[in-house]
Amino acid sequence: MERAELELWHTRKDLKNLDSLRSKGPIVLVPTMGALHQGHLSLVERASELGTAVVTIFVNPTQFGPNEDFDSYPRTLDRDLELLKDYPVAGVFAPEVSEIYGAPQGVMVQPGHRGMGLCGGSRPDHFSGVLTVVAKLFGLVQPDIAIFGRKDAQQCLVIGQMVEDLKMNIELIDAPTLRESDGLAMSSRNRYLSNEQRQQALCLSQALNKAKDLLVKGCCQRKEIVGTMEEILQTADALDYAEVRQVPNLEIEETLTGKILLAVAAKVGPARLIDNLVLELKNNQVADSYLLGTGRKS
Ligand code: PAF
Repeated sequence: MERAELELWHTRKDLKNLDSLRSKGPIVLVPTMGALHQGHLSLVERASELGTAVVTIFVNPTQFGPNEDFDSYPRTLDRDLELLKDYPVAGVFAPEVSEIYGAPQGVMVQPGHRGMGLCGGSRPDHFSGVLTVVAKLFGLVQPDIAIFGRKDAQQCLVIGQMVEDLKMNIELIDAPTLRESDGLAMSSRNRYLSNEQRQQALCLSQALNKAKDLLVKGCCQRKEIVGTMEEILQTADALDYAEVRQVPNLEIEETLTGKILLAVAAKVGPARLIDNLVLELKNNQVADSYLLGTGRKS
């Protein structure tokens, strides 16, 4: 794609600037809450390969619970824009809360069964907030394709269900999780960690890798896999969950087959961290897999 000039849009009216770009190919949206790291930038890179990349930066209040980190969530717009200048991004939409939400907010989009349990269990209104803002961003930007990070696996699946059920004509892609060299999944919340907590946080990826090893050795009993992950996650300050679910509908099966999600969440110091592996079990083989669509571009 030809390199476009990065534009910054704050209002819904500014998004009119997108209209002249629509004839140039697909509009590819990367929704973010900012505090960009290499993981986000890999989504942006993918977007620009597929069409005209548009990034949204919006810390969405409705997806944070009352005692969560909405107030302290890092807001680093200037730095984010500086990082994005090195990528062929057509525009960044960074609205104020009042541009997105009226007072009081009326309609909220509710997740279906995929929003139950896992993060939906410990963060009761989280996915309703995510779906509501994503539906608004889809309505405003009107992308042809949207890319989400696979690290937020349940988020990808509830958005997938929204797009399917509400007949939104948008192709979704879940892009692979980027990891630090020691395995820690990249996250904006890693910046909350001290050096010591950063080491402690490695138990999340270690739990997932140990579970994968067990699957490779032929164990396909959910209880055994969950037990192993829970044991390793004792190193965290508080375990939220260690689970194995079927993909895409997140059912619990005691004997694992087909496409599965190994998912963990734990508190380390001030940060609630999540991580996962998406795997396909087929013919006694274990292969890395994806969540949405055909995986053609993931
Ligand atoms: O994954 C995120 O950063 C957010 O949940 C999203 C999708 C941008 C909605 O606020």
